[in-house]
Amino acid sequence: MSFGKAALARLSGKTVFITGASAGIGKATAIQYAEATNGNIKLVLAARRLEKLQTLQEDLKKEYPEISTYIAKLDVSEKNSIHPFLEALPAEFKDIDILVNNAGKALGSAQVGSINEKDIEETFNTNVLGLISITQAVLQIFKAKNSGDIVQLGSIAGKDPYPGGSIYCASKFAVRAFTEALRKELINTKIRVIEIQPGAVETEFSIVRNYGDKEKADKIYEGREPLYGEDIAELIVFSTSRKQNTVIAEMLVFPSDQASASHVYRKPAAAK
Ligand SMILES: NC(=O)c1ccc[n+]([C@@H]2O[C@H](COP(=O)([O-])OP(=O)(O)OC[C@H]3O[C@@H](n4cnc5c(N)ncnc54)[C@H](OP(=O)(O)O)[C@@H]3O)[C@@H](O)[C@H]2O)c1
Repeated sequence: MSFGKAALARLSGKTVFITGASAGIGKATAIQYAEATNGNIKLVLAARRLEKLQTLQEDLKKEYPEISTYIAKLDVSEKNSIHPFLEALPAEFKDIDILVNNAGKALGSAQVGSINEKDIEETFNTNVLGLISITQAVLQIFKAKNSGDIVQLGSIAGKDPYPGGSIYCASKFAVRAFTEALRKELINTKIRVIEIQPGAVETEFSIVRNYGDKEKADKIYEGREPLYGEDIAELIVFSTSRKQNTVIAEMLVFPSDQASASHVYRKPAAAK
C-alpha cells in the first residue's frame, strides 16, 4: 500500500495492539502497518497460537529490521487474562494508540434448536465479551491521554442476518450496538471508534467455521473471487491514518461478486 506523506507521519511511531494476529485479517493488518510505515511502528500481536506469532515476528523483523514487535499468548474469551496481559506489556509498548479488536469466529451453521451450546458460548465469549473487556481495558489508556483509535471487526453479518448464522450474526449485531453506543459516549473526546464490516474474506474463518474441514471451507469460495486479509488490512490502516477531524465510523466492504450476506454471484462451473 503506497501512502501519502501526511498519512505516514500520522502513523509513524504509533503502538498498535492487534488481537487475533496469528492468521487472516489480523496477521495481514500487522503486515500492512509495517509496510505502510516501513517498520516505523510498534506492534503488540496477540492470539492463542504463539508459534504462528513467532513466525510473523521473525518475518516482520527480516523485512523491517527497525520494527518493534511484542508477541504474547492471549485468549480473549478468558476475561481474567486481559488485565494481566496489558500489565505485562514492556514499558515501550504500554502506551497503545490503536486497538484492532479483530479476534473472532463463527462456529458451524446449525439452525436454532440444534445449535451446540458450547459453540454459542465460545462465539459470544470471543466475539462479544472478549471484545468488550479489551475495549474497556484499553479505553483507560486512551481516556488518560484523550486520544486513540478503536477498530472493531464487525461484519455484514451484523447488519443482515441469514439462516444458519443466528449466533454469529447476533454476536456481530452486538458488536455493532456496543460500538455505536461507545462512539456516542466518546463524542466529546478525541478517541475515534471505527467499525469495519467485511463480506466474504478468504482466511481461516471458513475452516474454523467448518471445524477444520478445509474441503468444505474451500467450496464456499468456488466460482467466486472473495476478499483477502490484505484487502481489509489496507482499509484498517487507511481508516486509522486519517486527519484527527475525520472518523470513518463504518465501512461495509464486499468483494465485487457480493451484494448482501446471501446475495452472491458465482461463475457457473465449466462443463465437463
Ligand atoms: N473472513 C470473513 O469472511 C469475515 C467476514 C466478516 C468479518 N470477519 C471478522 O474478521 C475477524 C477476523 O477473522 P478472519 O477472517 O481473519 O479469521 P481467521 O483467519 O480465522 O483469524 C481469526 C483470528 O482470531 C484468533 N482467535 C480466535 N479465537 C480467539 C480467542 N479466543 N482469543 C484470541 N484470538 C482468537 C485466531 O488466532 P488463534 O486461533 O491463534 O487464537 C486468528 O488469529 C473476526 O472477528 C471475524 O468475525 C471475517
